[in-house]
Amino acid sequence: MQFKVALASLAILATQVSAIPYRRWGADAYVDHPNITDTDILNFALTLENLENAFYWSGLQNFTQADFDAAGLAAPARGFYEQVALHEKFHIDNLTTILGDKAVQPCTYNFPVNGNISNFISLSDMFEVIGTSAYNGAAKFIKDPNVLQTAASILATEARQSAWINNAVRGGNPWSTAYETALDLDQAFSLAAGLIVECPSNNTAIPVQAFPPVTASPADAAPGSNLTLEFTLPSGANNTQLFATFLTGISPISVPLYDESPFTVTIPPTLEGFVFLVVTNSTQKTDDTVTVAGPLFLNFPFNSNNSLVTLAH
Ligand SMILES: *[C@@H]1O[C@H](CO)[C@@H](O)[C@H](O)[C@H]1NC(C)=O
Ligand SMILES: *[C@@H]1O[C@H](CO)[C@@H](O)[C@H](O)[C@H]1NC(C)=O
Ligand SMILES: *[C@@H]1O[C@H](CO)[C@@H](O)[C@H](O)[C@H]1NC(C)=O
Ligand SMILES: *[C@@H]1O[C@H](CO)[C@@H](O)[C@H](O)[C@H]1NC(C)=O
Ligand SMILES: *[C@@H]1O[C@H](CO)[C@@H](O)[C@H](O)[C@H]1NC(C)=O
Ligand SMILES: *[C@@H]1O[C@H](CO)[C@@H](O)[C@H](O)[C@H]1NC(C)=O
Ligand SMILES: *[C@@H]1O[C@H](CO)[C@@H](O)[C@H](O)[C@H]1NC(C)=O
Ligand SMILES: *[C@@H]1O[C@H](CO)[C@@H](O)[C@H](O)[C@H]1NC(C)=O
Ligand SMILES: *[C@@H]1O[C@H](CO)[C@@H](O)[C@H](O)[C@H]1NC(C)=O
Repeated sequence: MQFKVALASLAILATQVSAIPYRRWGADAYVDHPNITDTDILNFALTLENLENAFYWSGLQNFTQADFDAAGLAAPARGFYEQVALHEKFHIDNLTTILGDKAVQPCTYNFPVNGNISNFISLSDMFEVIGTSAYNGAAKFIKDPNVLQTAASILATEARQSAWINNAVRGGNPWSTAYETALDLDQAFSLAAGLIVECPSNNTAIPVQAFPPVTASPADAAPGSNLTLEFTLPSGANNTQLFATFLTGISPISVPLYDESPFTVTIPPTLEGFVFLVVTNSTQKTDDTVTVAGPLFLNFPFNSNNSLVTLAH
């Protein structure tokens, strides 16, 4: 079910980036982010916007209307992507205006596209889902109502972009469940960290950390089938029961991992749409204190009859 072309490569890239140290299992730094400020949240959002902005503008440079046509994409797709790119630029302008000289500058990135427009489309799909879930998860930390209003306004646009890409462009579902999944700050950052090569050394530090990546196979595993997971087992976790916790809407589902070499999990048969998998040592919580690795982004596209489908693009 088309989930991982981009995602597996994402995690592979993540393992190559040494600039960003991974969060240690059980480390208590930043747990629940007790002291996080609106400035931190805005810079966190700006970090994601900078990544999206660089992605769309360079993608539009690389792929012409003729490339979109040759890939069988609908005629208006590229023009709408230009509008998406402009939205990201406006978001950056807005956040930068609020942050002033504290605003983080763009980093350099490694996008696993390799000149292949299919990879561009699937990565764009994932970025919009991550962006939506990141703003969703960050909302509870924002203190200034004006900042919250701005974030809400951006969130809604990211969600529309996400629906357009997965439904109109790719032929899949426009939404996942009745509720959008919220990612916490470290979870969202973990998904972006694998693509960041280097940031300006004087960028304002943001109190977020990336978890170690998870990779999965096979790439076409569907709900109900088995998925093999690879991640670094932290020291001290050898005799601990671990779980694959699937973040879906507001009702996470934890499933025990079995067979340590390699770890395997049966994907809950009820899952649909966009799902994030984190490896945890708890079935009761999904927060940073129990997270071992992840998230891994999964996409189980479905049609109007609620049947799983293969995406057209
Ligand atoms: C999970 O791991 C953390 C960090 O090692 C530990 O503090 C916590 O008690 C564990 N939770 C469970 C339910 O085992
Ligand atoms: C948060 O602030 C309180 C009060 O200043 C301090 O005691 C605590 O160590 C801080 N926590 C973190 C994670 O920075
Ligand atoms: C566009 O091409 C450049 C040069 O090959 C590459 O560095 C960049 O990652 C590409 N961007 C996208 C989104 O494909
Ligand atoms: C582009 O990527 C898609 C998905 O990864 C793959 O199926 C296709 O063969 C690739 N196309 C080319 C020309 O490599
Ligand atoms: C940022 O967006 C908000 C919309 O929520 C708007 O009120 C504000 O004027 C914008 N600020 C700038 C500097 O564009
Ligand atoms: C970092 O340095 C650049 C170039 O000197 C400057 O434009 C930018 O404002 C600086 N950023 C911060 C957060 O100080
Ligand atoms: C998944 O793996 C378990 C344990 O090896 C096995 O019992 C089960 O039959 C497998 N399920 C599928 C759908 O392959
Ligand atoms: C965990 O323990 C098992 C059995 O004691 C051992 O075979 C395996 O190598 C250990 N794994 C790690 C990562 O330490
Ligand atoms: C949905 O099911 C109906 C009735 O079985 C069928 O006519 C229709 O083609 C299906 N639509 C899709 C998108 O599969």
